[in-house]
Amino acid sequence: MIYAGILAGGKGTRMGNVPMPKQFLLLNEKPIIVHTIEKFILNNQFEKIIIATPKEWINHTLDILKKYKINLPQVEVIEGGSDRNETIMSIINYIEGLNNNLSDNDILVTHDAVRPFLTHRIIQENIEQGLKHSAVDTAISAIDTIVQSEDNEFISNIPRRNQMYQGQTPQTFHIAKLKELYNSLTNGEKEVLTDACKIFSIKGEKVKIVEGEIFNIKVTTPYDLNVANAIIKGSLDK
Ligand code: CTP
Repeated sequence: MIYAGILAGGKGTRMGNVPMPKQFLLLNEKPIIVHTIEKFILNNQFEKIIIATPKEWINHTLDILKKYKINLPQVEVIEGGSDRNETIMSIINYIEGLNNNLSDNDILVTHDAVRPFLTHRIIQENIEQGLKHSAVDTAISAIDTIVQSEDNEFISNIPRRNQMYQGQTPQTFHIAKLKELYNSLTNGEKEVLTDACKIFSIKGEKVKIVEGEIFNIKVTTPYDLNVANAIIKGSLDK
């Protein structure tokens, strides 16, 4: 079965002084998270679309689902975790409560609630590749040259740009495999391996790349919110 997990468990501290976590801020008069959920609802392959938010924002989320008429039977709201991976694990625990006999055909398409511009094509390719590979990452070719600095003062390496990508989401996983790998990590490893795809790659598992879109941005700072408003305005003007 194919599940979607909308990661909305963060507090959005880099957004600065705003009244609510950034996933609930308005973009063209609609909360960012509603734009995101609407993209997933349009794909009819999902058994469940599970939204994980901070505990104190669950009721607010249920209210906006009602307000925007997306309180559908396949949409569930649960409590997220203390960090992004723990939020993914909360979603997996919830799925196990529904289906305790997970097989290789049970996959989870995880997506940042604050990336409202993903496309049907990206979701579809995540599903198709996710059924073939145990992990899938969405990424775009790096536009700028990436420079690496180990001491944060001088450049230690300039990798070849044509081998560099910028990671986005969705990231899609075989649920049982992700759980097995995550549970094998020490607490120290869990702190460092904040990206679930990195867990696969460090454990020697292949991670397939699906091509993202330059406009599939993550709303992180007030500047990103301005960019997101410009993107949505541009798409409405067309
Ligand atoms: N996220 C989550 N659970 C957490 C932390 C983050 O589901 N415990 C989600 C966020 O809600 C967001 C996505 O992961 O949709 C990407 O994370 P990021 O942009 O870092 O979000 P925040 O942690 O909310 O932001 P900040 O780091 O500025 O506090």
